[in-house]
Amino acid sequence: MKKFIVSIMFALSASLMTTTAMASGGVELEDAKVDIHNQPSLQRGAKYYVNYCMGCHSLNFSRYNRVAADLGLTEEQVAKNLIFTRDADGELEKPGALMKNGMSQKQSAEWFGAPPPDLSLVGRSRGSDWIYSYLKAFYVDPTRPLGANNTVFPNAGMPHVLWELQGWQEKHCTKGEGEHAVEHCELKLTKAGSMTPVEYDQTVRDITNFLTYVGEPANLHRSTYGIFTLLFLVLFAVVAYLLKKEYWKDVH
Ligand code: HEC
Repeated sequence: MKKFIVSIMFALSASLMTTTAMASGGVELEDAKVDIHNQPSLQRGAKYYVNYCMGCHSLNFSRYNRVAADLGLTEEQVAKNLIFTRDADGELEKPGALMKNGMSQKQSAEWFGAPPPDLSLVGRSRGSDWIYSYLKAFYVDPTRPLGANNTVFPNAGMPHVLWELQGWQEKHCTKGEGEHAVEHCELKLTKAGSMTPVEYDQTVRDITNFLTYVGEPANLHRSTYGIFTLLFLVLFAVVAYLLKKEYWKDVH
């Protein structure tokens, strides 16, 4: 029996490892260290997102005012800092609107080779480590139509939109000696951007944090519900016990 359990656990962990490796395309991902309870980080992430990503990637399942409430922002702050998209009449969107953009799927597919997907659920489908590593993995590649490639998502259609902040990296590969030597590649920053690498990492972490929150907004409150549920169960157990004692007192 013990052997059986051990072999099942082994099979499970092996399959988990392969899925993780497959999800990252074999590239090692960095730990994003996101914390959706860090509100200032979420606020910065939302600001970067609307400035640098929203033009191409909508968040069709989110509304501005829900994001505002969750991030501790007033509707005025949202209208001033987050809303840049316009409705069909050319008016700026209202805080109750969904976070859509005017990007045409067909046209963008022609421009980038693939349409920029809606990112409402990317925090769940790709995971935060993937997003974090992806945004750090763009490098100069003159063979690509937009001059950039990505080690986490090879030949991605997305340009390196944060290049002004990060600067440009180049890929350097070295191959060890011998017939079966594996090639080892790393990215080196060759042209500095407006941020230091530490600042850039934090920016990318803020964006990733925001996308992780957007993927499952209820997570923000779930742990509080859990505590209340447990408290309720404890109180209910006391009441049930007293009731049981009351019912049975004449029987014995
Ligand atoms: C100029 C348009 C454009 C901008 C701006 C842009 N992206 Fe993209 N992005 C794309 C395109 C196009 C793809 C699809 C790439 C492909 O499939 O080859 C993509 C893909 C992605 C993916 C992978 C989605 C998936 O599951 O396949 C993520 C994550 C992503 N973008 C995040 C971002 C973030 C975060 C920003 C802002 C910092 C951003 N993008 C800004 C065009 C853009």
